[in-house]
Amino acid sequence: MLKRKNIIKIAIDSPAAAGAGTIGKAISKHYNLFYLDTGKIYRFIAFLKLNYPKKFNLKFIKDKIRNLQIKDLSNKKLLSDEIGSEASIISKKKILRKIVYSFQINFAYNPPKKYSGSCLDGRDITYNIVPDADFKFYITANVKTRALRRFKELKGLKKKVTYLEVLKSIKKRDKSDFNRKIAPLKKTRDSLLINTTNLNKSSCFLKLKKIIDRKLIINGNLQRSFKSSQSRVRKTTK
Ligand code: C5P
Repeated sequence: MLKRKNIIKIAIDSPAAAGAGTIGKAISKHYNLFYLDTGKIYRFIAFLKLNYPKKFNLKFIKDKIRNLQIKDLSNKKLLSDEIGSEASIISKKKILRKIVYSFQINFAYNPPKKYSGSCLDGRDITYNIVPDADFKFYITANVKTRALRRFKELKGLKKKVTYLEVLKSIKKRDKSDFNRKIAPLKKTRDSLLINTTNLNKSSCFLKLKKIIDRKLIINGNLQRSFKSSQSRVRKTTK
């Protein structure tokens, strides 16, 4: 597989609804990175399972993942709690993780030229998908805060759920994601812990930005490559 050189790679792992997606998107926008919420791929497969139960077999999944477009992952239907719970069940299957693996690797190491790099968030990104990432973060928050955020998000989407249902489902998902045998969620030693319980979006963003900027300045090579790709972007967008 083709791997682009001198790109910035950011890997984020986090439990459900910890705010990783919001931060990942903001950071990617700021540093011009190709962003992927990998949970959406598992959600996409869960969606296929629930909507096409008769066709749902390995060949069907492989074909769908081979033709998967980023825009397919922005389908609002993927956001429901039901799909999230199903995603956490199917994501335990080794064969499914294998199918999803190459999509993620290609995304991380070969982002389109107009991007300065990539940013992926999920459960096994820091140690399985992008183990050589330039920046690794483990983003978390206490479970009640996460449930409340997810509850508000689902309410915003006009879903009929109660806070307690969401809390129960997040706890169940945590249990499964942390304890499964294959690719469990964990904080690796080389990941920076960011607890977002008492942080709003902008303070969270600034916290990560400070860490990233500091390393980009210390590491001259990385900074040079980043600057040159940034100026390329500026030129092409003029
Ligand atoms: O991040 P999100 O909550 O959308 O992920 C849905 C489910 O997909 C998770 O609960 C987890 O079981 C699974 N997942 C995974 N590996 C990833 C990302 C998500 O197993 N890299």
